[in-house]
Amino acid sequence: MPIVGAAILPHGFPVIPHLSEDAEGALKTRNAMEKAGEALRKLHPEVVIIATPHGFRVQDHIALSYAARGAGTLFWQGKSLEMNIPLEGPFAARLAEAGKAKGLPLALVGFAGNRWDQSSLPLDWGVITPAWFLGHNRHLPGRGHVLAPVPEGPEGPPVLVVTPSRTLPWETLIDFGRLLAREAAADPRPMVFVASCDWAHTHREDGPYGYHPKGPEVDGKVAKAVAEHRLEDLLDLSPRDLEEAAVDGFWQVLVLMGILREVPMEGELLSYEAPSYYGMMVARYWPKT
Ligand SMILES: [Fe+2]
Repeated sequence: MPIVGAAILPHGFPVIPHLSEDAEGALKTRNAMEKAGEALRKLHPEVVIIATPHGFRVQDHIALSYAARGAGTLFWQGKSLEMNIPLEGPFAARLAEAGKAKGLPLALVGFAGNRWDQSSLPLDWGVITPAWFLGHNRHLPGRGHVLAPVPEGPEGPPVLVVTPSRTLPWETLIDFGRLLAREAAADPRPMVFVASCDWAHTHREDGPYGYHPKGPEVDGKVAKAVAEHRLEDLLDLSPRDLEEAAVDGFWQVLVLMGILREVPMEGELLSYEAPSYYGMMVARYWPKT
């Protein structure tokens, strides 16, 4: 079935209500996350594909989770959140096979048990933050690490984690998005795609990356391109722009661009703000009828 929906979601984890009451000033983003999450959940996805710049990374490759479980713990100002969720295995294997035939550098990643269905991978904010809004809003004390026993009770849809390497040519990541869309269409299950992205990290002098004028400038271009539904305008950004703005969302959006070339969708920018040193944007996409 063709991909049924997509989103660009941030991963600044204080937006998760369990970790911070006031989202550290990002309540507009939290509200938009809730709205986008609800829209995607209503599509009843049976697989959620999350592309993240964090987590396990394989240089010069697009890393795909190949494990049955993912688990991790986030800490924020005395609070913690433990997540333990199902991951998707068979679709990852089919993608890797199809990628090999196309000459795309895909790497299946596992940990601990040697079989995919005995394997469990660590998760961080890049996956936990969007997953919380996509049917995985359970804090599971004692289960937030890869070797924890599998929790009981109803669970949200399995997640496929995709981590693109920034060393790859941009066109390779777009080609991967096209392959992802085609392979999803050949699978009977409805799937959604999420680009887990924060934008410029140089909005504030007192932030860890300092201030750079390219930060607000690049984020303005990204928000405009998304709002006007001209995502491919972002291909005009240069590697230097991305570096000076310290963007981490661009490579996941290249994958989304590839998907949109195969599955034309309508889009809506729900929010953009930079309440601290980095920019967060929420946008949702649904197939054109
Ligand atoms: Fe990030």
